[in-house]
Amino acid sequence: MIVIRNLEENDIEKLLEFVKNCKPLTEHTLYTYWVLSRYFPNICFLCENESRELIGAITGVISAKNQEHAFIWQIGVRLDYRRKGIATSLIDKFVNKCTQLGISYIEFTIEPNNVASFNLFKKYAGCKGIKMKKIKMVKTQLWKEVLYRYELK
Ligand SMILES: CC(C)(COP(=O)(O)OP(=O)(O)OC[C@H]1O[C@@H](n2cnc3c(N)ncnc32)[C@H](O)[C@@H]1OP(=O)(O)O)[C@@H](O)C(=O)NCCC(=O)NCCS
Repeated sequence: MIVIRNLEENDIEKLLEFVKNCKPLTEHTLYTYWVLSRYFPNICFLCENESRELIGAITGVISAKNQEHAFIWQIGVRLDYRRKGIATSLIDKFVNKCTQLGISYIEFTIEPNNVASFNLFKKYAGCKGIKMKKIKMVKTQLWKEVLYRYELK
């Protein structure tokens, strides 16, 4: 049975391993994942298969500037489990928890050529009747992504 549960502090090594194998996700440090597990475990979720292998993850943070805003940091699904609705279920967990917490805006960035990710977020918004707004392009000389926002109310 596939299970989705909250991130815990002792998951961080396997989360880092998972991210390493889930391109184009950027691997961050163990320290970064520990911070997520320590301070944002209620909005970070892991998906495990019957053998308790990590097959999907969504991580995020809540804005300290505006408590009505959350940000999806990373989402990924193991290659052999894709197109089975796992990412959709992870987003659903994230959105439902945010709604419970009184969060009205969820932001996320997508690389301009990441069609799978764009379709995923667009389809979820369409199915749930959520407005998905393009906010702006965020870029440096070496990096470019588009910032989007779900408006939950
Ligand atoms: C993007 C990603 C998370 C999608 O995970 P998933 O579990 O396969 O997604 P779902 O099964 O929930 O798919 C939902 C919808 O997203 C869209 N989608 C998913 N993968 C797609 C692909 N490869 N091409 C086009 N559309 C795709 C489809 O509309 C799909 O619905 P459908 O299967 O009924 O057509 C996964 O491909 C992944 O881990 N990619 C690498 C990491 C990454 O790019 N993360 C996002 C960074 S912003």
